[in-house]
Amino acid sequence: AATLALSTPGVSFAAKKLVIGFAQTGAESEWRTANTESIKQAAKDAGVELKFSDAQQKQENQIKALRSFIAQKVDVIILAPLVTTGWDTVLMEAKRAKIPVILESRNVEVKDTSTWTTFVGSDFVEEGRRAARWLLDHTKSTQGDVNIVELQGTVGSDPANDRKKGFEEVIKTNPRYKIIRSQTGDFTRAKGKEVMEAFLKADAKKINVLYAHNDDMAIGAIQAIEEAGLKPGKDILVIGVDAVKGAFEAMIAGKMNVSVECSPLLGPQLMEAAKKAAAGEPLPRWIKTIEGVFPAEVAAKEFPNRKY
Ligand code: AHR
Repeated sequence: AATLALSTPGVSFAAKKLVIGFAQTGAESEWRTANTESIKQAAKDAGVELKFSDAQQKQENQIKALRSFIAQKVDVIILAPLVTTGWDTVLMEAKRAKIPVILESRNVEVKDTSTWTTFVGSDFVEEGRRAARWLLDHTKSTQGDVNIVELQGTVGSDPANDRKKGFEEVIKTNPRYKIIRSQTGDFTRAKGKEVMEAFLKADAKKINVLYAHNDDMAIGAIQAIEEAGLKPGKDILVIGVDAVKGAFEAMIAGKMNVSVECSPLLGPQLMEAAKKAAAGEPLPRWIKTIEGVFPAEVAAKEFPNRKY
């Protein structure tokens, strides 16, 4: 770790500057860009040296970054794990090197859970439930089947698994609601559009609802719906997750119906947790973010308050 030498005549002491290695997934979405900015800014504000690595959506790049942080003997590692599995070995290496690892924005599944210190992020199962509760409530006065197509996030990632789980848990309570197609759009606009085009080709007349695991995929799909000659937000209800500015713009334009919030602004909480972890202070296993739901009706009023 770098030290900042302060010189006072006759006295010699050094104030230690915290060094954090941050292994980010990539820049797949508006959410992720805001997340990176929040962490970089918070590090600056906290006087922390941040070594940043963009894995470009590849787990092997994240593992390489972690090994490089360990070799550089950073004080703390922050990891935004692309997927849940495949981390056992490298997290054990960090533990042996006595470097605390903080997970942010996504969680892992490892045998030895003592290899990571805390998870800073959202309750993705609850986000899925919130999306489904909005749908059930919004369509309660309609009749007949409600056919849903689902755009999943990155395969094997925590938010994709859990947003699916929470949504299914709630729609299961009413047999009218059916997921007729479900495929990954990898959390990106381009993939969201491409997969929605395929859904529309197969089932355009049947689809009543699109549930996208993030707003970027919803925004890509909105384009596909329009290109197919249909009205997003009306012919097909559009549900997204994240509540990024792009979703608010789509809602104000009447093309999207709701976005379930997932905050990317985790920088300040992460810096606080990193300082505690470096000092060996205890941390809760989960530092949960508090979030809401934004239906189109409130979008115009809320838009000026949005920070990402
Ligand atoms: O891990 C959080 C998810 O990752 C966001 O919901 C999505 O937009 C991002 O890519």
